[in-house]
Amino acid sequence: MTFPADRVRSLFLDFFADRDHLVLPSSSLVPVDDPSVLFTSAGMQQFKPYYSGAVKPPHPRIATAQKCFRTSDIESVGDASHLTLFEMLGNFTFGDYFKRESIIWAYELLTAGLGLDPDQIWVTCFAGEDNLPRDDESFRIWRDEVGIPEERIEFHPRSENFWGPTGDSGPCGPDSEIHYRLRPPPPGVAETGTASEGDRFLELWNLVFNQFEQDVDGTLADLASPGVDTGAGFERWVVLMQGKNSVYETDLYADIVAVAADILKPDVGDPDQLRALRTVAEHGRALAFLIGDGVLPSNDGRGFVLRRLLRRAVGAARQLGVSEPLMAGVSEAAIEAMQDAYPEVGRRRSEILSVVGEEEERFQATLRHAIGYLDRRVVGESGIDQIDGRQAFWLHDTLGLTIENLKVAAAARGLSVDEPGFEAAMEEQRRRSRAAARAEQRLPQGPGPSKFCGYRSESLDAARVQAIFRDGEPVDEVESGESCLLVLSETPFYAESGGQVGDTGTLTWESGRARVGDTQKSADGTIFHFVSIADGALRPGQELAAAVDGRRRAAIRRNHTATHLLHAALRAELGDHARQAGSLVGPDHLRFDFNHSAALSPDELVGIERSVNRQVLAAIAVTTEQTVVQEAVARGAMALFGEKYGERVRLVGIGEESLELCGGTHLENTAQMGLFHITGQENIGSGLRRIEAVTGEAAAERLRGNADQLEAAARLLESSAAEVAERTARLLQEQAGLQRELARLRQAQANSVAARLLEQNPPGTEPIRILGLQVATDGLASLTDVSQALKSQLGSDFALVLAGEESGRAQVLVSASRSAVAAGADSAGAVRVAAACLGGGGGGSRIQARGGGPDGGSAGAADREYDAGRPP
Ligand code: SER
Repeated sequence: MTFPADRVRSLFLDFFADRDHLVLPSSSLVPVDDPSVLFTSAGMQQFKPYYSGAVKPPHPRIATAQKCFRTSDIESVGDASHLTLFEMLGNFTFGDYFKRESIIWAYELLTAGLGLDPDQIWVTCFAGEDNLPRDDESFRIWRDEVGIPEERIEFHPRSENFWGPTGDSGPCGPDSEIHYRLRPPPPGVAETGTASEGDRFLELWNLVFNQFEQDVDGTLADLASPGVDTGAGFERWVVLMQGKNSVYETDLYADIVAVAADILKPDVGDPDQLRALRTVAEHGRALAFLIGDGVLPSNDGRGFVLRRLLRRAVGAARQLGVSEPLMAGVSEAAIEAMQDAYPEVGRRRSEILSVVGEEEERFQATLRHAIGYLDRRVVGESGIDQIDGRQAFWLHDTLGLTIENLKVAAAARGLSVDEPGFEAAMEEQRRRSRAAARAEQRLPQGPGPSKFCGYRSESLDAARVQAIFRDGEPVDEVESGESCLLVLSETPFYAESGGQVGDTGTLTWESGRARVGDTQKSADGTIFHFVSIADGALRPGQELAAAVDGRRRAAIRRNHTATHLLHAALRAELGDHARQAGSLVGPDHLRFDFNHSAALSPDELVGIERSVNRQVLAAIAVTTEQTVVQEAVARGAMALFGEKYGERVRLVGIGEESLELCGGTHLENTAQMGLFHITGQENIGSGLRRIEAVTGEAAAERLRGNADQLEAAARLLESSAAEVAERTARLLQEQAGLQRELARLRQAQANSVAARLLEQNPPGTEPIRILGLQVATDGLASLTDVSQALKSQLGSDFALVLAGEESGRAQVLVSASRSAVAAGADSAGAVRVAAACLGGGGGGSRIQARGGGPDGGSAGAADREYDAGRPP
């Protein structure tokens, strides 16, 4: 093959490296600093701060091959070209060359580099709109310098030729697109250009000229560092260069498709089956990349997208009649195919495969459950030929049956699904959750990154109030008794982040005092103190002293250092897959979530606790240092997730044991932790486990509490603490023996009471024996025991009313044999009559019923009433 995919990629990167571009690795699919987007969806994503001027780029010219993920195309996956996960080739500048070089070089690479036919190249430019001028500069460069004839240069409106921003704000600008004509129009038909019907044109490259910064309201301002952002759909280039009809036929996908086809055995001549095959292959590859970047299945956000891909893929497989697990195998083929270009998927192979495997297994079980329900409750309600939209939504929402899977299952049962009804129900739920999200408290727009000085000290003598907010609005004053959000010029208060909770403490100034109940940071880095004013008033500009609650902070530091040691110990004990997936570091305990599917045995837990305590006893210094991402990667630091090249990061090291990227507050030495104690573990789903633990004073308290309990138990058992278990086992054994003996005695007594009663009431000639008996026992056998004994002695034709006193209450028990019920006996009816005499109630069936009333002494009266056949 002249143009394997790897060669296409390197051709692009080398071309720009030769033109003084720094070639950087792809950033993570999960953007770290941009909460406005779910996934990295363009090459420029990681460079947003370079354009805005917030961060200085490592070089004014950069080129990348960037992995991207777009959720917008999920539904189209399966055709020849749409992908959720794709690569974008791009060159970027920040305050360096602009339209001229980017246009000329793009043309040069396509024609001289890739050998494409210059006569088939069409380009588009921005026509101007909304006070934005027409891009005549690009037009002239294309026409006069590159030599594209005017009739192959088109102008389009803002909707077509203006790009950005990603998310709700950021750089944007007019763009110029390069299209390649694959076929001329049919003979006799005039060429109408890139907007022509059908797929005669392939968009190859988008050259964006970023010159504006758009804010969240849509207002455009001049960009601090204008520059180009170009993006070329890598897979399209590969399809073109390899002369294929779809990406699935290229070497990027050949092996992945082969693995999927081996299991699915599709008839690729059937468009639906071909589509299903491609869906499985595409989603299998995307799953590997998403999990490789730390996304785990969940019910919202990124985790939900992951879940949706897996469910769609499973649905596609089922459409081909395959319900055995296959996705881990498909993802594995994707890892093989992609790991040279993206080593991170190779490094996280075992984790990827276990998450995919477990999620698929879980979903298959969900499907079996949901389809069982569908058959019993929906289809079972005969006569329907369509599944109602609300029902479909319920199956989706409650039982996890996706609409795709429901359609497959419905079709197999000759039913259709009311899709518009489903969509309407879905939209209604979306509307409700949007409203709920709006109702959540949000931090106001703050003045921007706050200075945090709390690593070195926990108090600051002179900080200044920078801004005060009440109900989301800035205010000039807050008074005693009021609450507000406060921003300080500098603060020792740590804002909640990386799992570590926010600090609490006090603020004092000459005429007042306030309490800080929590500290939070907004996306732009403003640190907000949640303050209630105890005395005096506060205004912006006021100088004050800030002091963090030291004892609480010390406990938090112990727990944070403990999570790092726990993380290291888990990996050493269980393997490298046991990576951190979440944590909570509070003052009273810590919670640590990690990837591992099996429950830890008691021995493993003890081993891990011991290993952490050994590090505590070894009194190891905890070090922190600032470095750049690439250095941290080279040294094997953990918790690297999408940090950007060149970005400064903080590394926390504990001897040889642990090196993690972390912004939290830590001990200076592990010995300050005192003690580490695991209090529990649980399974939290999706191949994740959770360990909870305590340290320092809380650990000592916990162990003290346990010891006190043990002592108390020992005293009760009149033994020593060491003998508690043995003594308890012996007592339980004795108790079981006593219970058996008691049961035997009750039975014997019930039998003798029954025999006596039957003797006193000999049978007559009636076919069904009707007995009304008053029972007195010495309290060992219960009324129920006696009733059982009587029934076993009475045979099969009887109606029996027993009355007696139990626990100071009058009780009535009625039972009737089947033959008696057939002859009209009704135990529940009898109990109602009897219970009415007793001033109480009761119930049961015609065969058996029970009732009673408060007065034990009246039971005999009830019995007599009934016996005399004179119900009141
Ligand atoms: N950001 C532009 C795009 O995604 C060009 O890279 O198309």
